[in-house]
Amino acid sequence: MGELKLLLKHVDEPGIENLDTYEKLGGYAGLKKAVGMERQAIIDEVKASGLRGRGGAGFPTWIKWNGIPKDTSKPHYIINNADEGEPGTFKDRELLLKLPHMVIEGMIIAGVALQAEVGYVYIRGEFVESAQATRKAIDQAYKKGYLGKNICGKQGLNFELYIHMGAGSYECGEESALMSSLMGERGQPRLKFPHAPLPVIEGVWKCPTLINNTETYAAVPHILANGGAWYGAMGTERSKGTKLFSVSGHVARPANYEVEMGTPLLQLVELAGGVTGGALKAIIPGGSSVQIVPADQVAGVNLDYESCSAAGTLLGSGGCMVFNENTDIVILMKRTAEFYAHESCGKCTPCREGTRWIYKIMERIVSGGGQKGDVELLLNICANIDGRSYCALGDAAAWPIVASIKHYRHEYDYWIEHKKSPVGPNCIPPVPEVMNPLLTLTPV
Ligand SMILES: Cc1cc2nc3c(=O)[nH]c(=O)nc-3n(C[C@H](O)[C@H](O)[C@H](O)COP(=O)(O)O)c2cc1C
Ligand code: SF4
Repeated sequence: MGELKLLLKHVDEPGIENLDTYEKLGGYAGLKKAVGMERQAIIDEVKASGLRGRGGAGFPTWIKWNGIPKDTSKPHYIINNADEGEPGTFKDRELLLKLPHMVIEGMIIAGVALQAEVGYVYIRGEFVESAQATRKAIDQAYKKGYLGKNICGKQGLNFELYIHMGAGSYECGEESALMSSLMGERGQPRLKFPHAPLPVIEGVWKCPTLINNTETYAAVPHILANGGAWYGAMGTERSKGTKLFSVSGHVARPANYEVEMGTPLLQLVELAGGVTGGALKAIIPGGSSVQIVPADQVAGVNLDYESCSAAGTLLGSGGCMVFNENTDIVILMKRTAEFYAHESCGKCTPCREGTRWIYKIMERIVSGGGQKGDVELLLNICANIDGRSYCALGDAAAWPIVASIKHYRHEYDYWIEHKKSPVGPNCIPPVPEVMNPLLTLTPV
């Protein structure tokens, strides 16, 4: 186990973002194979690979693909979720910037398998350079006959691909909110299964729709070119293949790294050059929505879905944030709470009100106004958000706070009692001086 470059094998090759170079290095072989296959055989190859969605939840990819109705009485749509708003995650933007043809090829293969003639790349609004690189690659693919009518020379096989820029809302990464946003509606989530049909039955414009993450699509050409069994031989029993991790924080070389699933978390930190500025204090392995793991528990954690959840955290989107001993966990969580309060779409009460209350309490603690009972109040609010919100943003706002209290209760207590950071005046991040003026809050 360790670094294993499959998606990122040629990432540093000059010109890899262009079709010629991508093809020279084996690109579009997976698509060429797919157009000669039965549709179900393509899905079976994805099934054999064991690929699970890389957007955060790790849902088996083939099950979604297989759920798209086989008839074509309605148009079918393919969506690439490149919203990537999860703090600490920056892999999809790099894939689209440097390897756009790999992602496009994966989407076309999905289109062929699912009888979809239209696809959308929904890119976060801030990722202008990634969108430009994707635009250029799409134009090249049209010219070469990989997109448009009769793709790869096969009569009647059509696939059009569009880019849609988001407007910078984290919530628009949630699949039902994304679909609303794509259709020009407010970016808020819809009712979920079993209260409403799954997107594969009724997605955009009430038609069957497949939504996968950018990295999920990027794995597909490799699976088709080399076979599902080949891909499935990598990783662990239930977490197959490789995964990209965006490593940031107190490491010598913050960047995206690709490792085999099941690689020890500490090995990833070493790949990134090791911890800087002091001893390791904690790691958040899967983006800001997942639970923090203290240094003394990190050794047993491997980078696969099962090992992470056994350790009380999640693999999530692979946004691995590393913190050294000078980190003030309460200030870190205050900043996290600020993000969720700002990004709450406001549709449901537990999240709309609760996220702001959490932020307000965190803010008063780190301003020296913490009160006895504040920690219990935080836990109470979190318990009333988790599982009671309309979408998973609410849960994601509560989990990090609860985990930080579980592992670092003494730091909260120190702040409340002494009105200062337990880490000292040079703590990271620095003690904030003013409240965020964007959030006008009522007293809790
Ligand atoms: C608040 C919120 C934000 C999300 N943001 C993203 C995102 O930026 N990118 C992404 O792929 N999935 C995101 N997801 C997960 C998507 O809803 C969906 O599960 C995913 O795109 C499915 O693709 P996959 O099966 O390939 O992982 C988010 C979920 C929630 C609740
Ligand atoms: S949990 Fe509710 S308020 Fe929060 S983002 Fe989801 S729908 Fe909106």
